[in-house]
Amino acid sequence: MNILVTGGAGYIGSVLTEQLVGEGHNVIVVDSLYRGHRAAVVPEAAFVQIDLSDRNALDEVFRNHTIEAVMHLAADTSVGLSMVEPERFFQNNIVCGINLLDCMLKYKVSSIVFSSSAAVYGQPEEIPITETTPAKPVNPYGETKLMFERILYWYGRAHGISSVSLRYFNVAGASERFGSDHNPETLLIPIVVRFAVSRQGVLSLYGDDYDTIDGTCIRDYIHVADIARAHALALKRFNGDVITKAYNLGNGEGYSVMNVIEVARRISGAPIPVEVRPRRAGDPAKLIASYELAKAELGWEPRFSTLDNIVKSAWEWQKEHPRGYEG
Ligand code: UFG
Repeated sequence: MNILVTGGAGYIGSVLTEQLVGEGHNVIVVDSLYRGHRAAVVPEAAFVQIDLSDRNALDEVFRNHTIEAVMHLAADTSVGLSMVEPERFFQNNIVCGINLLDCMLKYKVSSIVFSSSAAVYGQPEEIPITETTPAKPVNPYGETKLMFERILYWYGRAHGISSVSLRYFNVAGASERFGSDHNPETLLIPIVVRFAVSRQGVLSLYGDDYDTIDGTCIRDYIHVADIARAHALALKRFNGDVITKAYNLGNGEGYSVMNVIEVARRISGAPIPVEVRPRRAGDPAKLIASYELAKAELGWEPRFSTLDNIVKSAWEWQKEHPRGYEG
């Protein structure tokens, strides 16, 4: 298939593009390179540097390529930034997304896989979290992801757009070639492996007084390669009927921040010194997914998502790329 991947030069987009190309798809990556890296796009994929706010440039991409399906990953993703600059998230995650949908309508492309997030659930009332757990975002980032899911529903009803929204939990790990390179980095596992490789500095641990087994927050870590595979499986849901679906993508198991640090110490042999700091605003104590629906309807199950495998792959990528894609 000819697949347009927005944000294909980003962390998840790069691994997804690599996998789709490996399966024989033609991939057209669009990315502003605001957070992405040109070096993170496999040479077999076409690459166009545009910002989705530029409707004319986007129109040209659709005009020049016969696109059959869209995978929409381009977004602002920093929860903390969304609390202080919500307008940026409504612009980039909603307005730009609507530009994309309008191009899809114009060029009669009716299938989209959307990169959603566990952030739609906010502070969930039940664990594990299923797709029927009430979605009550607690930050503008999660709000934009939920809003765009709703927009997809209405574009489906009115215009026959079929959508699969994939609600990622804590994506981590790396493929052999592509990993996480953000500046600043805020995600736990990339930060931990940076400390393991540089053997400098002290890791801030945000809160050890949560109501959890060791007082640190519990998260559901899922390997980026498993996330990529779910997108390929989601394509099979598009069989002519108009659908609007949302699926949790998690591992179904929770690990504490301390668990992650201990695994990284064991795998790397680095001491990774830790300093306990106050809680980070808005961190829920515990997030664990139920992925039963994805299993039943997509035939998806995590394959690579043991904590050891996730941390080891991230650590190996970091060792090879101590300065990220610049190194
Ligand atoms: N943490 C630290 N020190 C750090 C970084 C993180 O202690 O230097 C802790 C956090 O406080 C949290 C845990 O590690 O308890 C995980 O934090 P991350 O920032 O790695 O991930 P989050 O769970 O906050 O959020 C991530 C993505 C969101 C997504 C969410 C869904 O950033 O986009 O997962 O679960 F919505």
